[in-house]
Amino acid sequence: MTIYIPEEKLSDIRNTANITDIISERVVLKKAGKDHVGLCPFHSEKTPSFTVSSVKQIFHCFGCGAGGDVFSFLMKYEGIGFSEAVQSLARRYGIDLPDRNMSASQKKAVSLRQQLFDLNRQVMSYYSEQLSGRSSGQRARAYLEKRGFSQEIIAQFSLGFAPDGWDNLVRFFRKLNVSRTLVENTGLIVPKKNTGFYDRFRNRVMFPIFDVTNQIIGFGGRVLDDSKPKYLNSPETSIYNKSKSLYGANAARNKARETGDVYIVEGYFDLLALHQHGITNTVATLGTSLTAEHISALRRGFAQKAFLVFDSDEAGLKAARRSIALFMNAAMDAAVIVLPKGYDPDSFIFEFGRAAFEKASERAIGMVEFLIESSIKSNGLSMEGKVRVISDLQQPLLEIKDRVARSIYVKYLAERLNVNEAAIIEKIKSGEKRLNQTQPNSWLKHNNDKHVLSENEPLIESEMIKVEKQIVSMMLKSPEILPEIKKRRALDYFSDKRLIEIAKIVLEHPVYGDADLPGLMNRFESSDHKNMIASLVIEDECRDLPKCEQLLSQFINGIERRQNTLVSQIKSAQESNDQELLFELLRKKQEQSVNRLR
Ligand code: CTP
Ligand code: MN
Repeated sequence: MTIYIPEEKLSDIRNTANITDIISERVVLKKAGKDHVGLCPFHSEKTPSFTVSSVKQIFHCFGCGAGGDVFSFLMKYEGIGFSEAVQSLARRYGIDLPDRNMSASQKKAVSLRQQLFDLNRQVMSYYSEQLSGRSSGQRARAYLEKRGFSQEIIAQFSLGFAPDGWDNLVRFFRKLNVSRTLVENTGLIVPKKNTGFYDRFRNRVMFPIFDVTNQIIGFGGRVLDDSKPKYLNSPETSIYNKSKSLYGANAARNKARETGDVYIVEGYFDLLALHQHGITNTVATLGTSLTAEHISALRRGFAQKAFLVFDSDEAGLKAARRSIALFMNAAMDAAVIVLPKGYDPDSFIFEFGRAAFEKASERAIGMVEFLIESSIKSNGLSMEGKVRVISDLQQPLLEIKDRVARSIYVKYLAERLNVNEAAIIEKIKSGEKRLNQTQPNSWLKHNNDKHVLSENEPLIESEMIKVEKQIVSMMLKSPEILPEIKKRRALDYFSDKRLIEIAKIVLEHPVYGDADLPGLMNRFESSDHKNMIASLVIEDECRDLPKCEQLLSQFINGIERRQNTLVSQIKSAQESNDQELLFELLRKKQEQSVNRLR
């Protein structure tokens, strides 16, 4: 999707937007020298190799090679196109894009996503007017009041009310005069059997669901009595993905970053209750179980430690079993808070208050410990009981990729059961074998980040390409060398296609300072090229002109020498009539001249 964005607006945005701000709104960054570092949002890692340079206005990950400017970051992170990234930054910095100058078709092309966000916001306003409406919202207001929710929290979370009736929203949409496709895409109205639509949410308290950038991606709604179903949620749409979204994320983020902790609850009202009592670093899942995507978003953008709050041992056990490996593998600490029987976070905090909740979180125990203790509780410590405990723990321990962590838990389990560690390891290994028979790619073969990463990478990078990279890097940092590069036709000796393409553009459009970098990036469509440029400019090796010239000479002379050797080898192969060798050498020679022609 492309819309017309004038060049001067692009440079306005580029000059105004600060990549470090934009990224730190989405990824926790720490200052490191003049750069910032954090956990890469584009691959799974435990130690930060994701680097953001304010000076150069680029990002680069030393782990997975992702890199680029502020536009490419947003495109990749949000999964959006260039023009949408531009629009989002323009909005963020209050830069007007001239939509009046757009043609009809360009207008039409303005992203569907943005239109959906806008429409959802209008629906939110509609629902919240209905909630405050004198007669329409009275029962809903009374319901919220009965449950103890304050005006502030209702306003902060923009709660609303979907009135009773089948076509309130349908008529609202009709009045707005928006396209049918768009309206259908909100998921808020449902097609009737024959023709027409009816409202999905009727006579319900409405919860708009915000994403971290404060856009409304969907809604949830609760009935005011005991009727079924108690909760309804928007279906997934092009802007609403339940396995990625968490309710309350935008409201929880700052406090979570401050404290390093985030609470995870299951319900809308649980979340509101905790927020109302000042536990504002709380998010809620949206009628789905926690996914790896939730956890890695929390780990990267929110906190190091998660507290899962559950209303019963059983729910806690289920969730702990399911998500333990996800937390481990995202290197996120996780502990379980089990509330007294019959309480959920909402009823607990309203009855006992904030201090009691905080006490309960001090007593939270780590997930593995929780599993072990729960299993001991239900199986006992008889000999048979111990055997059952070990087999209960077999699968969860097996799923922990980090060997060090795993061995710590094995040790704990062994001590707790007073059983030989080796026996436990053996038991776990028996499961490991089974796993390997069914899954050839099990963790046994990929037990660290690096290994998984290298799968997409060439095994060894040739020395040649390493030097080519150094040369392009110096072309980017020391434009004084460019005439020499041209004169000696250095690019003719290059072998890497991507580097040749980048170097050619740099020759045409030299980079005289960091301010020119984003412009250079924009000349490339492919993220591969952007990644490469970012990686070349971010490393700090500096060379003065003589050093640059020296590197260049070494490179060219080395190749010339190898070529000369090749020519003399060919000669002697011809003389000795070694056909096989000759063929091989000629092939090499041909390869080189193809490179030289490129
Ligand atoms: N949920 C859902 N659909 C349902 C029931 C539950 O999506 N039919 C989700 C909702 O997000 C809900 C959460 O699961 O908030 C927890 O459900 P439950 O424990 O049944 O309700 P509570 O949150 O305790 O709701 P309330 O206090 O309003 O009874
Ligand atoms: Mn509840």
